[in-house]
Amino acid sequence: KADDGYRLWLKFDKVASASRYTSYAQSVSSEFPTSPILETARKELGQGLKGLTGIAPVAKSADGSIQFVKDATIPEEGFEIQVDKKVQVKVDGLSVLGRKYIRIKASSDRGILYGVFELLRMIQQEKPLADISSSPKVKLRMLNHWDNVMGTIERGYAGASLWKWYELPETVDPRYTDYARANASIGINAVSVNNVNASARFMTPEYLAKVKVLADVFRPYGIKLFLSVNFASPKLVGKLKTSDPLDPQVRAFWASKTKEIYAQIPDFGGFLVKANSEGEPGPQEFGRTHADGANMLAEAVKPFNGIVIWRAFVYAPNPNGDRFKEAYNDFKPLDGTFAKNVIVQVKNGPIDFQPREPFHPLFGAMPKTPLALEFQITQEYTGFSTNVFYQSILFKECLDSDTYQNGKGSTVAKVIDGSLGNDQITMMAGVANTGSDRNWTGHLLSQANWYAFGRLAWDHTLSSEKIADEWVKQTLTRDDKAAKTASDILMKSRDTYVKFTTPLGLHHVMGQGIHWGPEPWLERSQRPDWTSIYYHRADSVGLGFDRKASGSNALSLYHPAVAQQWLDPAKTDLNYLLWFHHVGWKEKLTSGRTLWDEFCYRMNSGLQEVKDLQKDWDSLQGKVDPEIFADVRGRLAAQQRESVLWRDAHLLYFQTYSKLPISYGTPART
Ligand code: GCU
Repeated sequence: KADDGYRLWLKFDKVASASRYTSYAQSVSSEFPTSPILETARKELGQGLKGLTGIAPVAKSADGSIQFVKDATIPEEGFEIQVDKKVQVKVDGLSVLGRKYIRIKASSDRGILYGVFELLRMIQQEKPLADISSSPKVKLRMLNHWDNVMGTIERGYAGASLWKWYELPETVDPRYTDYARANASIGINAVSVNNVNASARFMTPEYLAKVKVLADVFRPYGIKLFLSVNFASPKLVGKLKTSDPLDPQVRAFWASKTKEIYAQIPDFGGFLVKANSEGEPGPQEFGRTHADGANMLAEAVKPFNGIVIWRAFVYAPNPNGDRFKEAYNDFKPLDGTFAKNVIVQVKNGPIDFQPREPFHPLFGAMPKTPLALEFQITQEYTGFSTNVFYQSILFKECLDSDTYQNGKGSTVAKVIDGSLGNDQITMMAGVANTGSDRNWTGHLLSQANWYAFGRLAWDHTLSSEKIADEWVKQTLTRDDKAAKTASDILMKSRDTYVKFTTPLGLHHVMGQGIHWGPEPWLERSQRPDWTSIYYHRADSVGLGFDRKASGSNALSLYHPAVAQQWLDPAKTDLNYLLWFHHVGWKEKLTSGRTLWDEFCYRMNSGLQEVKDLQKDWDSLQGKVDPEIFADVRGRLAAQQRESVLWRDAHLLYFQTYSKLPISYGTPART
């Protein structure tokens, strides 16, 4: 039977080495009282083992070959797996080799659930069973869905929304459960279900009844539900004259609305807010700050242990400004003024989820405020559903960036996991790439991005190679050679995409409407900061945005040790060059080529590399499922076509400024 990708990485088909595991798969016992999450763990373990080994374990009251063991010393949600390989037992006075045991230890039923998935993952990859102890580095590992009431998804490229609002609450699509299960298997424990450009409708009783059903489906998988809120809800839904956060009636509205939500969803997580950004309402309309707005909502959810996630993605039109600096300028002065149950969610980079972006200067600049890191899993600027772009590479690059907040080694990862400041709330969010397509993510290889996000939110020290290898072995093939080829495609994909779209630190040169295609010639728009020329600054002299003191001085927002690496164009990593410098077309770069020649060279070699990726994938014919093979093959061909478009569009447009001949400097590959 062909594989349509629906089962994601959760393919529990019988493994060739099943006999290695059968003695462990006989029975399950548990020291935990029963609970919905524990029942999920039992069910998943039972089904998984039956599939992988052919043996369905029976339930025992004690002494199972797999035991769920309570251990209060293990951190919340963490687990330990202990494998007893040899057990000597006495039978009629004789010492014999006894049965084998696996103990999954945890302090809570959630830890057991995650331990079960870890165990299944080991068997699925046919690894020798080994002891392992693991606990999540951040507390909230969250997907942000940008899903609308009408069923569309903002920047979603895998079909319509998974949530069928018109059918809810009466009809409950079983796919909601499959979705929850996939998340739980990679440690995701929080989900906001609606777009940050939020419809106020989600605050009406009609919609809360629908949302409640989703929360009920997610709960047994350890997932908390959050809602994005429209800051003008008091006016839009509550019929008040204002939504001013300091107005007593507005505060009363939120207090009673919150109570209404918790009556339906007792473990409701809280609110996610995009305010005063891209036309969304917010406290600044009333002369109040982001902190005033956030703290008002925080007060409403506090009695229920809810939290407020306040986004720092803010910018306003200013032809002479630099968008790079805006969120910093708005938020840095507010450090230390947010309520305890507020976390500020910052995108990985200062502009907007570009294929390569320096880390956001707010990381490292708000030591008194917990910060959440927001990545975009959906491929808005990273190739839509037609390009392979393994985001783990980008995620890790940001997580491993050193902010120098508390001196060397103060990486973004340490800022967000709370280890620098003992934050109470810690989190990592990813804008989801799921939709109603049978394979969930459009491009099958984009499933790896959902997977990688979950794994890194759990443990940011995992390497991209390890995550790719795990995902490939669970999803595509366990044949070592083929798996290596598939992992290599993922590992190379990010660099390749950057080369033919935004090499050398070029950024925000995509179409105004279509964000995965080129439009460097966009020089006029209603909003100056939405044009391409605002970012690339091409002129007869050269290319790139000067962000040194001679330009916007955005570099000064970083710790001096960070800024240092990007201050001198001659010493700046070429991958970041045009982020920070306006470089002459004929200037020699460290590569030995001039800027123009290097630009032509990179754009063309990106395109050539896509051809290599196609060849690599073709070599997998017969090694991966035929349906998956054909689908990815088609998408790579589309990527090849798009890479020609990007190269030609960029080179012909920028040539009108450089006035230099195009030379690729590399032979074409066929
Ligand atoms: C990007 C994206 C918008 C989205 C925004 C956000 O600008 O294009 O569609 O609403 O990010 O993160 O809020």
